Amino acid sequence: MPPRDALMPMLEDVLYGGMLAEGEHVYEFERRFAEHFGLPNALGFSSGTGALHVALLSCGVRPGDEVVTTSMTAEPTNTTILQIGAVPVFADVDPRTGNLEPASVEACIGPRTKAILVVHYAGYPVALNAMRALADRHGVALIEDCAHALGARYAGQAIGTIGDAAIFSFQAIKHMTTVDGGALTLRDPAKIRAAKKLRWFGLEKGVPRTEVDIVEAGYKYNMTNVAGVIGLRQLDDIDEAIARHIAHGQAFDAALSAIPGLSAAAVEAVSEPSYWIYTLLSDDSDAVERRLAEIGVAASKLHRPNHLHSVFAPYRRDLPGLAEFYRRLVHIPCGWWVSDADRERIVSALSKG
Ligand SMILES: Cc1ncc(COP(=O)(O)O)c(C=O)c1O
Repeated sequence: MPPRDALMPMLEDVLYGGMLAEGEHVYEFERRFAEHFGLPNALGFSSGTGALHVALLSCGVRPGDEVVTTSMTAEPTNTTILQIGAVPVFADVDPRTGNLEPASVEACIGPRTKAILVVHYAGYPVALNAMRALADRHGVALIEDCAHALGARYAGQAIGTIGDAAIFSFQAIKHMTTVDGGALTLRDPAKIRAAKKLRWFGLEKGVPRTEVDIVEAGYKYNMTNVAGVIGLRQLDDIDEAIARHIAHGQAFDAALSAIPGLSAAAVEAVSEPSYWIYTLLSDDSDAVERRLAEIGVAASKLHRPNHLHSVFAPYRRDLPGLAEFYRRLVHIPCGWWVSDADRERIVSALSKG
């Protein structure tokens, strides 16, 4: 949260101002968020999950369509596909990054494919040029799940600008938080009006409620002014917070890959990760976790590969790249709250072998 004395007066104005729900604070947040992160536009949502659901619908995904996706992610990436009645097709990941591997994605594209859904896992950008080329060649949409990757860049472009749609999450443990919240950006501005209606029951804002006509059922995914004002104040400090993630990530890259048995995740030359959490690879990831636990630092694999959940059992495939990545994976903290001294303690503990 921003400093109390800066946030509270703004928050109180909203809480006692009579306009709690979606309103001017949300719209100002949308404008400033898009401008700050170099996006063509931004729509505020109650969560990244809601934004992703509408992103899929905006890209034409309907029941029975296939979405080529990754299992190495948080579950909402894929539960939203099921929510539509569409079919997740799990492509394999590069064992050096945990990110979708373009050749595997291409092999999964078929006549029913409507979209490729990529996740910039842990804040490390996917091979976006290759994914864009694949989507164009096969005439399918490219959707970027940037929930982990606020502030990352790829080939000189802001993350979220290469896909046809992209989403961000402002849930409690992300680079920035509005307690819960999300944003959707759409490459085609002509799709914004329909996306706004999906965000709000299918209703058009600004048309009197007694005259408006719902033609497609929408959802209750709007951002509130309360979340909007928190987001607005967070934007003042966000560059500094992201810079801390990146500084820690780069320092770990240099220090940890010099230790025998450990390696940093591969980063393409054109890729600028924002290191939401640090991806460390080790032939004995359990030993890394134990060593860090001894100095009071939590490390883990964070997620369960989604295809291992029962709900995704019908879509399970053999994913050898993911199996290798997951076996070697251990995430270590590299957020803005980690001090330089903590970072050195982590490096020192791991360098003891
Ligand atoms: C990769 C990924 N996608 C989507 C989401 C959904 O975001 P939210 O929690 O804001 O709904 C999350 C976060 O939980 C996530 O980590």
